[in-house]
Amino acid sequence: MSDSGEEWQVARRRKGHGRRSHPLQVSLPPGCHQEQQLDIGKTVKRIRDTVTELRCEDFCQKWKESVAASVSAALMRVDQGDCEVSTNQPEDGKDGIISEQLQCVCYGLGPFSSCVSARYQLAMLLLLLDARQILLKDCSVYDPAFSSGEKDVLREMGLTVLTENEEGKHLVTKPTIFYMMHCGKALYNNLLWKNWSTQCLPLMVIVGNSFCSMRDRTIDRVFKQDYSYISQVVAVCEEKPLPCPSRLIDVFSDTAVITFLSGNLNKLPQSTWADPLEPQYQNSPDLEIILRDKDR
Ligand SMILES: C[S@@+](CC[C@H](N)C(=O)[O-])C[C@H]1O[C@@H](n2cnc3c(N)ncnc32)[C@H](O)[C@@H]1O
Repeated sequence: MSDSGEEWQVARRRKGHGRRSHPLQVSLPPGCHQEQQLDIGKTVKRIRDTVTELRCEDFCQKWKESVAASVSAALMRVDQGDCEVSTNQPEDGKDGIISEQLQCVCYGLGPFSSCVSARYQLAMLLLLLDARQILLKDCSVYDPAFSSGEKDVLREMGLTVLTENEEGKHLVTKPTIFYMMHCGKALYNNLLWKNWSTQCLPLMVIVGNSFCSMRDRTIDRVFKQDYSYISQVVAVCEEKPLPCPSRLIDVFSDTAVITFLSGNLNKLPQSTWADPLEPQYQNSPDLEIILRDKDR
């Protein structure tokens, strides 16, 4: 796989500009600038300082409580046998079981060494992992926009950096938090498709963009056609909005904890679950996902 930005990040050359003097530019989220060389130690320290800063914020406590409540509910569903899931974990105390069972996947963090928003989001992720005692190695991170220096930083911190672009198609086998801050709809839609059953969806706790906001901001026809999996669950998923202080509006706006209760899913017609077709997005003009390099 190519490590570079691939499709949607590469801005087109403007007409009339020569090849040599105007190399391709990579568009990053506003306020983000690509660095050439990364000082790993300095970057890790900056992230740890941001963690310390966030830890003292009231809203951060509310995030931890809200995520913890949703995670506990998901774990309880597994304990009660509501979901088919492999739980061959050692039993060394209630907290031990919980930590070992929980996984986390983080997509779309962005270039956190140069982008302040992404750095705050990474700091919040670390606080959430800490609050649930999830081992850093049990948190997988992936963004095609990561530079090789950023991947080194994440590994240095103990996180697992995925090497393949899953396009969000990550199958859950145990309770899993998906941390997907301001990711494109296609990434969420792919994730839902991959786990499209009344057994798998209840294992997922998504910390990310509100599905209700996506529905309200997208033309009805496009939402139903291109993002059919989000469109089918939006009415039956549980969404708890997460607080966001005004000074961090660009960082944590429009986020929620999203969960799927079996009871609610079972209200959907049985046909909902039959033969889910893999999303294609061939006619979606502003697709906010970097796809796998199919020519590899
Ligand atoms: C709108 S940006 C959000 C960046 C950052 N979280 C923020 O809020 O500023 C969407 C992010 O999704 C990432 N992304 C696109 N395709 C992806 C994929 N297949 N897997 C993981 N991340 C992906 C992009 O590289 C980009 O960093």
